[in-house]
Amino acid sequence: MARSKIALIGAGQIGGNLALLAAQRELGDVVLFDVPAAEGAAKGKALDIAQLLPVVGRNVGLAGTSKYEDVAGADVCIITAGIPRKPGMSREDLLGTNVRIISEVAENLKRVCPHAFCIVVSNPLDAMVYTFFKLTGFPKQRVVGMAGVLDSSRFRAFVAMEVGVAVEDVTAFVLGGHGDDMVPLVRCCSVGGIPVTELLPKDRIEAIVDRTRKAGGELVALYKTGSAYYAPAASAIAMAESYLRDKKRVLPCAAYLEGEYGVRGTYFGVPVVIGRSGVERVLELSLSVEEQAAVHKSLESVRRTVAETKV
Ligand code: APR
Repeated sequence: MARSKIALIGAGQIGGNLALLAAQRELGDVVLFDVPAAEGAAKGKALDIAQLLPVVGRNVGLAGTSKYEDVAGADVCIITAGIPRKPGMSREDLLGTNVRIISEVAENLKRVCPHAFCIVVSNPLDAMVYTFFKLTGFPKQRVVGMAGVLDSSRFRAFVAMEVGVAVEDVTAFVLGGHGDDMVPLVRCCSVGGIPVTELLPKDRIEAIVDRTRKAGGELVALYKTGSAYYAPAASAIAMAESYLRDKKRVLPCAAYLEGEYGVRGTYFGVPVVIGRSGVERVLELSLSVEEQAAVHKSLESVRRTVAETKV
């Protein structure tokens, strides 16, 4: 069986970590793509990672390039091209620059990878994935945004730290847009099957919800020169792996909705099943009045940002 080909569009901080994780998990051959000015870094990361493969005993090919022809025929494309946040910036502040970059990426991937499963990571996420979907014309099953896996992982990490338990025993998910009004669903958070509300007082849970919403900004303030990259990369790899290995994992992702959760014609964070056909299903659950109001607020923010892209 031929090896899968994974194209990483943007070979910056997240791109480099995506390459490392994809190689370590032997997901397929990896091509790191970046603009000509950053081609050296793309080639360098490919070579550096190729040199760790003998140590970890994994066999995949790695290459760096600034030519779209080299990513042709990729099975999965993960798009991180764009600029990251600096302290004091919101994700929305990246809009103008990143819309231009995503548009260029979309036009090229449409040409060279017409059958790829595409995961968009660039921010502001919900608007970038919508732009990419519109400009490529790819089916909704094959264009998805990475946000919910990351936001949920942050939520789980904070709950595990607070309760003092293993992270893998904490289940949780976050609905809605990848902005400060995302909706961590406390009702669906459990620790070893026990509702978190049985284990933590209300004020501690509220503090965790608030920290989850602002977790990206917390890292921007610490890093000063950019935004998070380890956890975003791991989250996108979980999505790529579920697709390539047909795992049918239930992962919260930005998916194109056509009536689910009462939302139509917008990318929005919801739990989906990812398998060999891409986004195979959106899982729906009924929301309380309070949850609906929070989702509505998040949806309004996403719609405002998308409207500014003028796609
Ligand atoms: N085509 C391809 N790559 C591009 C283009 C383009 N037109 N324009 C910029 N890039 C590349 C940059 O050269 C850089 O190497 O995208 C890369 C982005 O990497 P970083 O600046 O290190 O940013 P990173 O932390 O990886 O975040 C990328 O993901 O989470 C989001 O908000 C984050 O929008 C940001 C994106």
